[in-house]
Amino acid sequence: MLVKSEIRVPSIENRVSRIEMRILITAGGTREYIDPVRFISNASSGRMGYALAREALRAGHKVILVTAPTTRRPPSQAKVIEVETAAQMFKAVKKHFEKCDCLIMAAAVADYTPSRPAKTKIKKTGKALTIKLKPTTDILRWAGGRKRKNQIVIGFALEDKAIRSCAEKKLNEKNLDMIIANTPAAIGADKSTVQIKTANSAWTKIESTAKTTIAKKIVRLIESLYPYDKQQ
Ligand code: CTP
Repeated sequence: MLVKSEIRVPSIENRVSRIEMRILITAGGTREYIDPVRFISNASSGRMGYALAREALRAGHKVILVTAPTTRRPPSQAKVIEVETAAQMFKAVKKHFEKCDCLIMAAAVADYTPSRPAKTKIKKTGKALTIKLKPTTDILRWAGGRKRKNQIVIGFALEDKAIRSCAEKKLNEKNLDMIIANTPAAIGADKSTVQIKTANSAWTKIESTAKTTIAKKIVRLIESLYPYDKQQ
């Protein structure tokens, strides 16, 4: 049975005019270069991150969008920072995190990157090729570990099984304020089924809904997490 939202979502009318947050959003799938022309990436379309950026702007917030390559057009009112690799995304987040009220890590950041990318195009030899990878920095974990009081850090969790328990582990271990769990079916799709949990609420599930609608709900929730004394 679908449990109705246990998270109280304030109405748009009550919120829009009262809060102006600075929201840092990442989007798209990073590219990890093997050589100057080839990279390892994933099928992220950037839809969720871009929908969040549009909705946050529509609600009157300031948005910095750090985006890995996508085919989508970024909203013109956002400050847009284009990056390719996980390392470049980390650098951009580090630069802007401090001044932001909220970070939403909607990007599909590569967990691994080639240890020693070739400086010139790798020639084929006809033999098997092994590429050694090293871990990238977990940007979300970095942000959760250094957020200041009143700063909101939100992550996504892409899970194929034990969705809630795996996502809740990420929420706790990365010291997040909210986690949005989805499945590989969400990648590149217009619609998604998500499950959302904040640090202090039960799970809520949104079944097969347009990412634009999900983005609206997430922005409303973020506003409800924003400290009341800063809303006046
Ligand atoms: N993330 C990040 N930096 C990375 C990898 C992921 O900030 N190097 C962020 C993503 O933007 C997302 C969250 O971490 O918000 C969870 O990503 P996910 O791939 O689901 O999980 P991981 O923590 O990478 O763990 P695993 O892949 O083992 O499930």
